[in-house]
Amino acid sequence: MSSVILALDQGTTSSRAIVFDIRGEVRAVAQHEFRQIFPQPGWVEHDGREIWSSQAGVAAEALASAGVSPRDVAAIGIANQRETTLLWDRKSGEPLHNAIVWQDRRTAQHCDRLKQDGLEPIFRAKTGLVLDAYFSGTKLTWLLDNIPGARERAEAGDLAFGTVDSWLAWNLSGGRLHITDASNASRTLMFNIHSLEWDKELLDILRIPAALLPKVVDSSSVYGCCSGNIFESIPIGGMAGDQQAALFGQGCGKEGMAKNTYGTGCFMLMHTGARPVTSGHNLLTTVAWQINGAAEYALEGSVFIAGAAVQWLRDGLGIIRDSAEVEALAATVTDNGGVYFVPAFSGLGAPHWDPYARGTIVGISRGTTAAHIARAVLESIAFQTDDLRAAMESDSGVLLSELRVDGGASVNNLLLQFQADLLGVNVVRPMVRETTALGAAYLAGLAVGFWSDRNEIERFWQRDRLFTPLMASDRVSMLKQFWAKGLGRSMGWDA
Ligand code: G3P
Repeated sequence: MSSVILALDQGTTSSRAIVFDIRGEVRAVAQHEFRQIFPQPGWVEHDGREIWSSQAGVAAEALASAGVSPRDVAAIGIANQRETTLLWDRKSGEPLHNAIVWQDRRTAQHCDRLKQDGLEPIFRAKTGLVLDAYFSGTKLTWLLDNIPGARERAEAGDLAFGTVDSWLAWNLSGGRLHITDASNASRTLMFNIHSLEWDKELLDILRIPAALLPKVVDSSSVYGCCSGNIFESIPIGGMAGDQQAALFGQGCGKEGMAKNTYGTGCFMLMHTGARPVTSGHNLLTTVAWQINGAAEYALEGSVFIAGAAVQWLRDGLGIIRDSAEVEALAATVTDNGGVYFVPAFSGLGAPHWDPYARGTIVGISRGTTAAHIARAVLESIAFQTDDLRAAMESDSGVLLSELRVDGGASVNNLLLQFQADLLGVNVVRPMVRETTALGAAYLAGLAVGFWSDRNEIERFWQRDRLFTPLMASDRVSMLKQFWAKGLGRSMGWDA
């Protein structure tokens, strides 16, 4: 009897692998950071081969440290950074170019042109997305237009496009599987979230040959087995975008339940049931997962920079040596000292969608210290989340009753207390904070009968700590007013 599930969590800055047991508890974790490539300001790339080698490496490491062999693994589940776009040769399996990462802004002007041509409403209605460089569609067009011969080869069926889930499934299966799940497909600008199919009209607008596209599959299903590597014969049983996987892992399977993941960026998703809710406030409508052919949906607010701003304190400013030090530094002052930081390093995502916004620090005085800046950075994560909450409540008509949180920065108690204060609702941290990987494990485990049904796994969710709002409401309003002013200064900077 197989005893564990192996979850692959391929994120923006690191590849992680986590081994879960039958109770949904972590048996082992392995993690490896990989190279971020910045060829020009606003461009971000990854080496596809490094994505695969680091991911395979940590998977092997996690199995070894859990003391299990590949034979003990009931299934592999994949959660991945979404939208990041790869193009590879079907015969050799070699990428034609570095992967263009979701944060990359090189296609902002292409999106502007599509908007000027009046095409945004079509994309919005069919895909639930806004026309922004964030998504895969215009990145793929860029690759086809800029790699000599790529378009002809794509039309001849020699090339394959995929987001990171497809790329991992391809490599795990030794090139036998060219698939993507509906949650990942829903981030490409090419997928109709109502019919759950690639959309011919959108492909034509983006000039993308259908021969490139992976087959869209359920998020929980046995797609095939690993082949030609050390994971030989392990079934691949689940795939979902990392944010949707975290929603699943947080047990947010009922309408109105919401989670926020504090990772590189910050992503708040609210489950809206079998109904795609159209946003009137610039949020995204996205497939949460597709199981047995039926989609469930979520409203999503995507903030591009959250934990990455803390990394910038470490790597850019050098005022901390380790990201974990930020809480202690911020706690040496009682408030932000009037400093507001808008981390628009790569434009602003939801609900502003301004690719030309740039990072801004306002309110600096002679008394400002590194601690105030650190505090302003942490607070910026919470302010951005609060902006998402306001948009989400207006769109869904549901007032948030609590927010479940996870991701790297969710260890930070100062951040979570400030978050609860701003939101005015309880913020709840679960015992297992590896919810992205857990979601992928659940999807895979359900597919192979490792767990019997969703009710069984929802019972595993347990609270670690609850943060309740404590701050006086007039102070909360004052802080929000200053944040809004700072935000205004950052927007339209680079237009
Ligand atoms: O949409 C981008 C998102 O999937 C990236 O997630 O965890 O790598 O910050 P993360």
